[in-house]
Amino acid sequence: MTSFFPQRLEPMKDEDFFRLTSCIKQRYGLNLGDKKTLVESRLYNYVLDRGFTSFADFVSTALAADNELEMANIINRLTTNYTYFMREQEHFDHFTKVFLPNAEQTIDRNELCIWSAGCSFGHEAYTFACCMEDYFEDKNNSWDRRILATDISHNALLTAKQGSYGAATLDSLPRAWKKKYFTEKNGIYTVNERLRSQVLFKCHNLMENISFKKKFDLIICRNVMIYFDRETVRDLIRRFYDATNDGGYLYIGHAETLPEGSPYVRERAAVYRKMLRRE
Ligand SMILES: C[S@@+](CC[C@H](N)C(=O)[O-])C[C@H]1O[C@@H](n2cnc3c(N)ncnc32)[C@H](O)[C@@H]1O
Repeated sequence: MTSFFPQRLEPMKDEDFFRLTSCIKQRYGLNLGDKKTLVESRLYNYVLDRGFTSFADFVSTALAADNELEMANIINRLTTNYTYFMREQEHFDHFTKVFLPNAEQTIDRNELCIWSAGCSFGHEAYTFACCMEDYFEDKNNSWDRRILATDISHNALLTAKQGSYGAATLDSLPRAWKKKYFTEKNGIYTVNERLRSQVLFKCHNLMENISFKKKFDLIICRNVMIYFDRETVRDLIRRFYDATNDGGYLYIGHAETLPEGSPYVRERAAVYRKMLRRE
């Protein structure tokens, strides 16, 4: 008896691969043009499960103008969401030793605005939230401190909002923080409500306009721009700059560099600043 659904798909044709990856690059900035094996293998079972008999049909359906849901499912499968707590420790040192003391002295608003752009499963935003809690613990400080954390992957955001992680994931955090900022149940550690309420997770595509209500004192965009081409990065940096308060900072991944002509001033490796405007 022949099954209704095929067990196997013919390899993806170059033209279908090109149609799909061009659209993804245009809409999301992701440069997958030389990653045919990865794209094919990450989508193979999904395409079969969805009942398609060829990549060509699947790609045509996905690219139909009103098929946002299918594109979101593809993005969930094609983004690389690798992340962990305390990743690139140097930034957390800078944050507590330079950024926060400086902010205390120079920011006269009663709030700190921070954006983790490309936050993946939330480890990055929660690590910065832990640092802030520790820093302000013994201070009589009434600042409203919020972290906006955004990504295009709905799957990653789901985990991030839950804030629940396996025990091994917490090994890179200071031991005291496990007790202080997490609650354990059946070997799963969940970020405390107080900390979670300081982080707002939202779906946002970095290719789109930045139209958040407020500007940011710190934008953290680490290990995201490596997937974009130079022109896309140049454009994004310009938009980040406009969305940064004077004197505010940008953290990028240590494996990344800003394109020539970037308006930020380099303070140290992977740390950039929008200089204070002198009147
Ligand atoms: C490798 S993770 C980096 C996570 C975290 N920043 C870190 O350094 O550990 C890259 C993240 O960027 C997100 N991303 C890629 N393209 C994006 C876009 N156009 N808009 C928003 N997020 C994007 C991916 O979904 C993924 O979660």
